[in-house]
Amino acid sequence: MKADVLLGLQWGDEGKGKIVDVLTPNYDIIARFQGGPNAGHTLVFNNVKHVLHTIPSGIFRENALNIIGNGVVIDPYIFKEEVDKLVAQGIDVAKKIILSSKAHIIMPTHKALDEAYENAKGDKKIGSTKKGIGPTYTDKIARHGLRVGDIVNNFEARYAECKNNHLQILKNYEYSFDIAAYEKQWFEGIALLKSLRIETTEVFVNQQMQAGKAVLCEGAQGTLLDIEFGSYPFVTSSNTISAGACTGLGISPRAVGEVFGIFKAYCTRVGSGPFPTELFDANGKTMQNVGMEFGSTTGRARRCGWLDLVALKYAIMINGVTQLFMMKIDVLNSFDSIKICTAYNYKGTTIDYLPDDLENVEPVYQEFAGWKQDLPMSSYEELPAAIHAYVAFIEKETGIPVTIVSTGPEREKTIIRK
Ligand code: GDP
Ligand code: IMO
Ligand code: MG
Repeated sequence: MKADVLLGLQWGDEGKGKIVDVLTPNYDIIARFQGGPNAGHTLVFNNVKHVLHTIPSGIFRENALNIIGNGVVIDPYIFKEEVDKLVAQGIDVAKKIILSSKAHIIMPTHKALDEAYENAKGDKKIGSTKKGIGPTYTDKIARHGLRVGDIVNNFEARYAECKNNHLQILKNYEYSFDIAAYEKQWFEGIALLKSLRIETTEVFVNQQMQAGKAVLCEGAQGTLLDIEFGSYPFVTSSNTISAGACTGLGISPRAVGEVFGIFKAYCTRVGSGPFPTELFDANGKTMQNVGMEFGSTTGRARRCGWLDLVALKYAIMINGVTQLFMMKIDVLNSFDSIKICTAYNYKGTTIDYLPDDLENVEPVYQEFAGWKQDLPMSSYEELPAAIHAYVAFIEKETGIPVTIVSTGPEREKTIIRK
């Protein structure tokens, strides 16, 4: 069987965790392929909210295996916290998780470096989550990173060597991160990793697919944060796009089936960088308050704005999206009218593509009637006509069907169109 990929089409936090959890009963394996604890994926069921950072969002369902692929970066400290929480809830994590021996490890000094580099940037800060993501991927590409498979092989000496290199660099920078205080639980995390199933997951996943097992690849962050195609340099350090599932899991492009592109009915962004449709008015505040737009990982307020169709079309193109999932439509319930950005004014002309200097565009809007009501939880047909018009417009413009509409954080508030 081919593997399906689910990923964010905006700047992250589209609701990936919720939908992966909803879809997991249809899959045997849920696999993360990039990112790390910069991600915060929220699931809500039985009136309880769960936030996952490194662990795939299939972990709460009975039968799914969860894979952390080679493209992911793991912080043993945060990973241990996540596992401890799940175990306390009665989840047999050891039985349900497989780690790639090739996944890279975030060291305490990577976190210190992340902070040091951000501090040095002054007002050009990226707004990093300071989880050590950038420095860890930097070491991976520079070919001196530590991988999960290294844990069993003269690890302490290799750790000390990497740490000393980092400490040399850190001498030139200001940072407050307490490396020594972090190390204790970090090493406990290393011991935990060692106790889990560590494999060449690229081989395992391909064998499973050949045996007819269904695989869902769970993206982290979003397309506009991709290291290649995002609003560079205000991006993360991995490939957040569908191609990332190939490199981050060892799945060939021919083995990718559906590409589920997930987006909010509006837009949010946390951290710095261009955001053409950002709102600084009461509408933006309403989106932030009603949508509870505060970061799942850092608690920072998310910037909010209207849906940007130019950016959405770009993300659909880069990823080869086959189905669209629209999230958080309920957040717009109180609006008299709703806008969609359909083009940009740029250097005196109207364009319908994303220029590299995205900070220099002015959005051109088309206005839609609001629906001004709470939403029924039943079928798509019973949703207000104004939502049908909103969805139909997006489908017409993108040429891609919207097959899921999400009307609340809970599992049940998910309308799957036939
Ligand atoms: P992820 O990183 O893509 O998994 O998204 P996050 O979990 O960071 O952020 C999405 C937030 O929106 C979480 O708080 C979810 O519980 C919430 N959420 C998901 N879907 C919906 C929805 O349809 N309506 C509302 N109101 N909230 C939603
Ligand atoms: P999920 O998977 C939203 C943003 C940060 C910052 C930039 C770089 O929950 O959608 P990094 O720590 O990666 O060096 O930060 O990327 N960012 C996210 N924004 N959701 C995420 O993940 C994010 N992961 C990173 O805010 O602007
Ligand atoms: Mg998130």
